[in-house]
Amino acid sequence: MTTVNSEKLSSARFAHATDAFVEVFTASVDFDKRMAQQDIEGSIAHAKMLTHCGILTEAERDAIIQGLNQISTEIINGEFVWSIQQEDVHMNIEARLTDLIGIAGKKLHTGRSRNDQVATDIRLYLRSEIQQISAQLVRLQTAILNLAEQHADTIMPGFTHLQVAQPITFGHHLMAWFEMLVRDHERLQDCCKRLNVMPLGAAALAGTSYPIDRFMTAELLGFSGPSANSLDSVSDRDFAIEFTAVGSLIMMHLSRFSEELILWSSAQFDFIEMPDAFCTGSSIMPQKKNPDVPELVRGKSGRVTGHLMSLLMLMKSQPLAYNKDNQEDKEPLFDTADTLINCLRAYADMVPHISPKKENMYQSAKRGFATATDLADYLVRKGMAFRDAHEVVGLAVRLGIDTQRDLSEISLAELQTFSTLVTEDVFGFLTLEGSVAARSHIGGTAPNTVKAAIETARLNLN
Ligand code: ARG
Repeated sequence: MTTVNSEKLSSARFAHATDAFVEVFTASVDFDKRMAQQDIEGSIAHAKMLTHCGILTEAERDAIIQGLNQISTEIINGEFVWSIQQEDVHMNIEARLTDLIGIAGKKLHTGRSRNDQVATDIRLYLRSEIQQISAQLVRLQTAILNLAEQHADTIMPGFTHLQVAQPITFGHHLMAWFEMLVRDHERLQDCCKRLNVMPLGAAALAGTSYPIDRFMTAELLGFSGPSANSLDSVSDRDFAIEFTAVGSLIMMHLSRFSEELILWSSAQFDFIEMPDAFCTGSSIMPQKKNPDVPELVRGKSGRVTGHLMSLLMLMKSQPLAYNKDNQEDKEPLFDTADTLINCLRAYADMVPHISPKKENMYQSAKRGFATATDLADYLVRKGMAFRDAHEVVGLAVRLGIDTQRDLSEISLAELQTFSTLVTEDVFGFLTLEGSVAARSHIGGTAPNTVKAAIETARLNLN
């Protein structure tokens, strides 16, 4: 609940009250209250450090900690009364602390400013969101590995230009998705390195004249250390941009993943059966089973990329150091984190229940002359130049189209009319099984190679 009642904290400088609309317009409490627990955590560490440095007494520190813990409970229980007049999460909590413990509450803000405070809160908040995102990402990776393991030798067509290209295994295709997520996970961890630096102590912009110990606060809050420059500390939002950039890549991957699931579950491809629990029907067409979850995820990828653009535009013209513009960083960040957690969760829940229609996949590869390259490679091994082999196979494919047969169904005598290099052993290369088995180098689609890749991936994941 948010009310408009209590008095503003710092109004002595002003002869006139803030315009009522401006008060609402400039307030951020409606959205930044999401960082309340991080704000409290930061304040407790700050109070401990001030006491350690002789700036607060132990009694003041204890009162502050006890008051902040009570506020934390009030917020969790939904009893805390948020006030627009207190503008943001920081001032709301400080005002309540002063209500609860009196003068010691007013001392908490010694040696800090909301500028370093908010920068600290966002970093703490994002750090914990990234942990949740990583956890969902790993769940999805595990689900993909399990499905890939079941289908290391399930044959399907591989595509380029969305035209049948060469046979691959479904397990191999799934492992391509897995690799994208490996990179995403690395990027999240890398982003955390620059995020996990502590701005507190920068105060408004220039640092503080109190004898503070920034290393102590950083350690208490689990940061790798204090930031190096006070101006940069309060104005830097690179970490937010990096996070939304990583998020955009994750969503772009999920969107591509979605696109394939949507295509594959269509009657035209008919490669997979999507789990009922992740689809909905049509209100008018009784035959429909729509892949809503992948469609929605594909759609949501747009908003995350939008947030990345918002943050880049937010920062690009700001002079040093803090500007109120920065208040606009939170909604894109929160929405990016929510969208990532929800989309990854939906995918991690859904993937184990995707069932491939093996026979349809197999027939589709067969219909598409997917082993044409294998025939060309065969002729090259027999001594023909690759470009000539390409021509010969083109003729064989033409015959197959005209007579509605796969390459493996054309007789030896007919194949020999295109090249006398062809002998009986050619059929070992023209089958789909022969084609995938031949690609057994690292990174290839051979079932045994795919199984080895899954094993390595599992070790790396744990
Ligand atoms: N609500 C503000 C924000 O989100 C907190 C910092 C305000 N600092 C200031 N000097 N007005 O950025």
